[in-house]
Amino acid sequence: MTYEALQTAADHVARETGRESHDAGLVLGSGLSSYATTLPDAIELSYSDIPGFPTPRVEGHSGSLVSAMVGGHPVLVLAGRVHTYEGWEMSDVVFGVRTAAMAGCRTVILTNAAGGVGDHLAPGDLVAITDHINVTGRNPLVGANDSRLGPRFPDQTNVYSARVRSLTAAAAQETGVAVKEGVYAWFLGPTYETPAEIRMARTLGADLVGMSTVPEAIALSHMGVEVGGISLVTNLAAGISDSPLSHDEVTETAAAARDRFTALLDALLPTLTR
Ligand code: HPA
Repeated sequence: MTYEALQTAADHVARETGRESHDAGLVLGSGLSSYATTLPDAIELSYSDIPGFPTPRVEGHSGSLVSAMVGGHPVLVLAGRVHTYEGWEMSDVVFGVRTAAMAGCRTVILTNAAGGVGDHLAPGDLVAITDHINVTGRNPLVGANDSRLGPRFPDQTNVYSARVRSLTAAAAQETGVAVKEGVYAWFLGPTYETPAEIRMARTLGADLVGMSTVPEAIALSHMGVEVGGISLVTNLAAGISDSPLSHDEVTETAAAARDRFTALLDALLPTLTR
């Protein structure tokens, strides 16, 4: 059923955009949604008009899928995502990125806001994700495997592509926007972590903590799609500084970093499909 539903959604995207196939995808995290429509030849479809697409329940913005032409190639941008903590089934959480893969995307960049755990990180930092740790016990591949999507037991040695990381480093160099590297640990949320959980995450080797991205990375890697991940550190993780965490702090830091983030994406996107 999922496979057919994904095909229906991807067919809808191709028909409504007039672009038969898309080469690369981008998922925009907190505070970045408006970037999508700044891209050349943008065509915007509302999630609510795409068959099978879940529509975000928490953000003010209900989500849209934007097709644009970047460096002569069609690119799909998911502006707004649904999170596991909203109560969605895992198959819904990954429906958007799977649709992008079905629509032809061979490379997808996942962006997010995250808490900084690593000593080398500070609020405002952009960080290329090198690997992840899943501490939620959830996985979007639980259940019957559809071998048309991918294998039952997918290898996870290189979920985050070295090629995309080196293109990200090149885009950083070109724009003068600093990009660090780190390991992202997925916590379910919606609570922020406790200081003890952050000590655990640090001990386990995490540099970043957040509530998204990992299910999407798993579903994409299952489908053989090359994944890139970029986190914006919006705050120091719980207990690292004395101040309590707030969503306002997250959105304010995201807004302040938006221009650097979009400059990086403007330089990176055209190189993905070259
Ligand atoms: N923890 C989890 N998710 C987050 C954080 C955090 O500190 N900051 C932004 N998203």
